[in-house]
This record gives sequence, structure tokens and C-alpha cells, in this order.
Amino acid sequence: MAPATVLARCATGIEGLDNILEGGIPRGNMVLVAGSVGTGKTTLCLEFLVRGAERGERSLFLSVTEASSKLIQNLSTFEFFRRDLIDQGSLVFVDLPVLYDRLGLGHEELTPEEIGILIRTIRDLVRSLGAKRLVLDSLTSVCYRIRRDEQIRDFMLRLGQELNEAGCTSLLVSEIGPTPGRYSLHGVEEAIVDGVILLWNTRRMGDILRVVQIVKMRGTAHSRAQYVLELTPIGILMAPHLKGGREGGT
Ligand SMILES: Nc1ncnc2c1ncn2[C@@H]1O[C@H](COP(=O)(O)OP(=O)(O)O)[C@@H](O)[C@H]1O
Ligand SMILES: [Mg+2]
Repeated sequence: MAPATVLARCATGIEGLDNILEGGIPRGNMVLVAGSVGTGKTTLCLEFLVRGAERGERSLFLSVTEASSKLIQNLSTFEFFRRDLIDQGSLVFVDLPVLYDRLGLGHEELTPEEIGILIRTIRDLVRSLGAKRLVLDSLTSVCYRIRRDEQIRDFMLRLGQELNEAGCTSLLVSEIGPTPGRYSLHGVEEAIVDGVILLWNTRRMGDILRVVQIVKMRGTAHSRAQYVLELTPIGILMAPHLKGGREGGT
């Protein structure tokens, strides 16, 4: 029997995650980062980009929900953040609403033609920058403007293919409610992506803990255990989730 192929990895630079992912996300994968508010989605995605930029991989943050100036301000409170990465162009922030305006995609619901324009614009941006890592924060806001399931499916399939061809590994933020159920707004998103990283809050002895779990990652025999996730000044730390005390999702 031929030896199993080991796919090239995109090390997230978050040690705990890389350990349970056999070294990182398979390169070119499109991964959903799903969780409710305050679970650490944006921080995890930003650290993924900073660590990539440090390794010489150009990293692109497409911001929909928060202005990138505000994001950079928040990011500056973490020691792992390096402004020089932005100054030298290794870490690039683009505000999607600005792009929408420039492309004339002003109205609420995007037509199939406009969705095509959006995909080509992201593709051209990734290609011209030679970006190897991309974050879209959030996919939920984009899907809110695409609305129909079959169009969301088509948008994600085409975007995933373009990014994969460009050798770009991507994290797409999915904003979901606090109760467990599906991992995305429409449910089609999670079926198309190559991976799902789920974040949630849990209560233990009166404290709220952040928990992370890899639900799915194509191309990897990954751990499916739960880990406590801590946002520290030096970056995200993970430890096994010891399930003592009172539990409950929030
Ligand atoms: N400098 C910091 N050090 C540690 N934790 C921080 C720091 N800045 C913000 N946080 C924590 O990060 C949380 C926000 O996380 P965020 O990644 O924006 O969540 P989400 O995107 O899932 O809504 C804040 O509520 C706060 O608890
Ligand atoms: Mg966020």
C-alpha cells in the first residue's frame, strides 16, 4: 500500500491549535470560525494573520462588521501585535463596505451579477497582493446580503475554489447564537467549507470560560476534544477542558 499523503500545512501560529491540527490547517482550506459574540473569533483570526505575516506570508483581513481602524486599535492592546507588519504591507486591512461603495454594490440584496463582481474583486485582491492568508469577518454579514441558499452555496463554492487555486488559506467568521445548533446562518455554509472551528462560552464555578473545538477539518486526523481558550496579551493559549463543576452553554 502506498504511504498516505501528508498535505502541506498552514501553521496558524497558535500553538494549541497547530498541535491538534497535526501542524496546521491544510494549505488552501477554507475554514469557518463559528461562535457567538465575545467568544474570541476576531482575535483568533487576527492572530492567525499576524503569525502568518511574521512568517513572510502576506495576510489580508476583509472587514465587514467593524471599521479596520477600530480593529487595529483593539489589536494594539495585544503584545503579539506588530504595527510594522502593517507599515511594511505584510498585513493588509480592507473595509468591505468601502469596496461595495466603489463597485456600486450599494443596495441591500446583491444580484447574481453583483455576487460575481464581489468574488472577482476578492480574487484579484488576493492575487495582486499574493496573499497566502485571508480572513473574512464576517461571512454572516456577506451572506445576509446574498440571502438565497442556492446563491450562498454558489458564492462559497466559487470563492473557495479561487482561494484554493491561489494557495490562500482562509478563515471565514460565522456569527451564531449562543445555543448549540448549526454553525452558520443558513446551514449551507458549514457543508461547503473544508473545516469548522467552533467557539463558545461555558460557565464553571461562576466564571465564563471560552471553549474551542475542531468540529471538522478535511485532510486531517484532528482532535475533536474541547479546549479552554484564553486570550492573553501574548496571544491565544489553549488547555484541555476539564469538565468539572457546573456547565452550561451561554
Ligand atoms: N488585550 C486583551 N487581552 C485579553 N483579552 C482581551 C483583550 N482585548 C480584548 N479582550 C477580550 O476579547 C473579547 C473580544 O473578543 P473578540 O475576538 O472580539 O470576540 P468575537 O469576535 O467572537 O465577538 C473581549 O470581550 C475581551 O474579553
Ligand atoms: Mg468579532
